[in-house]
Amino acid sequence: MRVLAVETSCDETSASVVEMRGDRFNVLSLVVRSQVIHEEFGGIVPELAARAHVEVIYDVVKRALDDSGVPLEGVDLVAATKGPGLAASLIVGVQFAKTVALTLNRPFVGVNHLIGHIYSAYLSDPELRPPFLTLIVSGGHTELVWVEDWYSFRLLGHTLDDAAGEAFDKGGRTLGLGYPAGPKIDRLARKGKRDFHAFPKPRIKRKGYYFSFSGLKTALLHYVRAKGEEFVRENLPHIAASYQEAIVQHLYDVVSRAYGELNPPKLAVVGGVALNSRLRELFKERFGARVLFSRPEYCTDNAAMIGAAALKKYAIYGEDGQGVGVYPSLGVVEP
Ligand code: KG4
Ligand code: ZN
Repeated sequence: MRVLAVETSCDETSASVVEMRGDRFNVLSLVVRSQVIHEEFGGIVPELAARAHVEVIYDVVKRALDDSGVPLEGVDLVAATKGPGLAASLIVGVQFAKTVALTLNRPFVGVNHLIGHIYSAYLSDPELRPPFLTLIVSGGHTELVWVEDWYSFRLLGHTLDDAAGEAFDKGGRTLGLGYPAGPKIDRLARKGKRDFHAFPKPRIKRKGYYFSFSGLKTALLHYVRAKGEEFVRENLPHIAASYQEAIVQHLYDVVSRAYGELNPPKLAVVGGVALNSRLRELFKERFGARVLFSRPEYCTDNAAMIGAAALKKYAIYGEDGQGVGVYPSLGVVEP
């Protein structure tokens, strides 16, 4: 069974052809076109994102099909991300994919973007099977999910305010680093001292596995204002390293509590922030061989993970058909 999948939930236009044999996925092609337009605005401008998707989607899908070597008739299923994400961006991908499905007379499946991120773990380790614990850390989400079965999920906790990626991006703006700041902070931090400044640990009253990053972002802002521009410029790698350490330690604190209580056979870490080198180092040190990080090409938004999720969803639930819309605030446990 082969799927042509499209992902346009945020600022990446992506298409992929994925094959499933038994419980194994084979990515036959993956094309990702990132939008650079948002850099000059310091964040994503939804209208510009949607327009940029419209401009490139045909080329991206055509390239994915060409690269896969699969003829159009060889596509058995068509899929697209239906949410969560930016409404106008989601519409571009869903409309395009539904039209392809209609033209080819193939079933269509709408995929939850967060479930897509979870499927990046299967693409990264072909031996992985449910159940396992997964941490989704991206620009828009920080969620701790128990994967009960292939398409059955239990949300254990989530951020109460900003996502981990947002903490990187907003903190980076305070430090004058531009968008997206996660990779820049990561790079700078390698030359800095993690214990240069101790940012306050987030205090969370709610019981469960919850995260909070907005206090950290504010603490950085106050720190930068109090110390002044020159101090910040001179100590930028140290400040970046200390700030990154606070984010990563908080993720670790919450996840390790869940890990201790649930004793999962595997812990998968997925999403854009899973690229962070300090996060990888700390989690590998503490969780050893049981931690699995998404492969770098599957960490940030991509259509291969959407394709893999679509194949399983179709196998279990059948098709969604042409009636699927877009669902900008879809939750992680909703198929
Ligand atoms: O998964 P993703 O591509 O998009 C969403 O679904 O949100 O994640 C993008 C996020 C951005 O916030 C970016 O700053 C962050 O991932 N990111 C990183 C690193 N690489 C990307 N954060 C920390 N360290 C990195 N190396
Ligand atoms: Zn994402």
